[in-house]
Amino acid sequence: MKKNKDNFELFVKNNINKIKKNKKFNNKSKEWSLLASKIKYHYNFNWLGLPIIKFPTDILVMQEIIWKVKPDVIIETGVARGGSLIFFASLIQLINKKGKVIGIDIDIRKKNELAIKKHPLYKNIKLLNGSSTSKKITNKLIKKLSNKKVIVVLDSLHTEEHVLKELEIYSKIVSKKSYLIVQDTFVEFFPKNHFKNRPWDKGNNPLTAVKKFLKNNKNFIVDKKISSKIGITENPMGYLIKKND
Ligand SMILES: C[S@@+](CC[C@H](N)C(=O)[O-])C[C@H]1O[C@@H](n2cnc3c(N)ncnc32)[C@H](O)[C@@H]1O
Repeated sequence: MKKNKDNFELFVKNNINKIKKNKKFNNKSKEWSLLASKIKYHYNFNWLGLPIIKFPTDILVMQEIIWKVKPDVIIETGVARGGSLIFFASLIQLINKKGKVIGIDIDIRKKNELAIKKHPLYKNIKLLNGSSTSKKITNKLIKKLSNKKVIVVLDSLHTEEHVLKELEIYSKIVSKKSYLIVQDTFVEFFPKNHFKNRPWDKGNNPLTAVKKFLKNNKNFIVDKKISSKIGITENPMGYLIKKND
């Protein structure tokens, strides 16, 4: 039995190494990701009844991370319609019934707030209304969560300035051997001026923020295994691990 398991793990490891070098697969995945975003494919899905705005492969990988880290708390900046909070809450319920998901948004619409509050998983969720970089919110979080195992997902305003500020703040809150996940780094691969009426663009987005952050924060590294295997993603170089030292 053990022999089979080891063989399968070895097969997957070799398979990921092959996929990493497969230019055709990786180019087509990038091309597909950009087209899918353009046609708003990622708006099409719900998690336990509420809309979640993420690619299915990113949701799958986040599930792997959550199961591996087994956090007490997951923080997400950017709530929108609440499906991602429900997704995180459904997993945290399995791991730790008292676990919490904290959602921070500057503009939680009444209809969305009501839907989240009516959901059976709301008991594991806390909604905070305000900017993800407001001192009033983040100082409290820093104090309260110092002894907790925390994963953070940044999915709010996708400008370099804002994401860099979030990275500086939330890198202190995320625990060692856990993850700081930065959404929408793929904006860097769109043509310039692709995003009409958005303050982010090629050259000013979550990936440019991640690159600046990593230069000065050697205790964070990109999870290379995820980068090698995921193919289709909104978050290339966006899965950061906080090292143990
Ligand atoms: C892409 S949506 C979030 C999607 C959600 N995480 C999901 O996966 O379904 C971005 C959200 O960020 C919020 N937002 C924009 N600026 C913000 C800020 N400074 N602080 C917190 N939230 C912000 C918007 O109101 C919007 O609801």
